[in-house]
Amino acid sequence: MPLSRIVKVADAKEIEDGKGKIVRVEGLMLAIFRIKDEFFALDNSCLHRGGPLGEGELEGYNVTCPWHGWTYDVRTGSFEVIPPLQVRTYPVRREGESVLVELEGSGSG
Ligand code: FES
Repeated sequence: MPLSRIVKVADAKEIEDGKGKIVRVEGLMLAIFRIKDEFFALDNSCLHRGGPLGEGELEGYNVTCPWHGWTYDVRTGSFEVIPPLQVRTYPVRREGESVLVELEGSGSG
């Protein structure tokens, strides 16, 4: 079973309510979203053509890709038209002012 690691991706105050932020962490590009005091982390890359989801508009729990408008639920990563199609999501938690994301190890190496 791969080890998971907890990585700090932002300070909570860097991300406003209803906004996203793109972060690079350990070779991954993640989109971090804040909705009130909840945080969500998804792969930044849209399943359509790789648009930057972290620059998308949030409406409720849905983020719309800025390139061609595909919409995903930030809680599950599900594409709204075909829910089984999902962008990868990562567990997020806040500790004090730090926003932490849990990444899975990629095996050996
Ligand atoms: S790249 Fe996201 S909708 Fe086309």
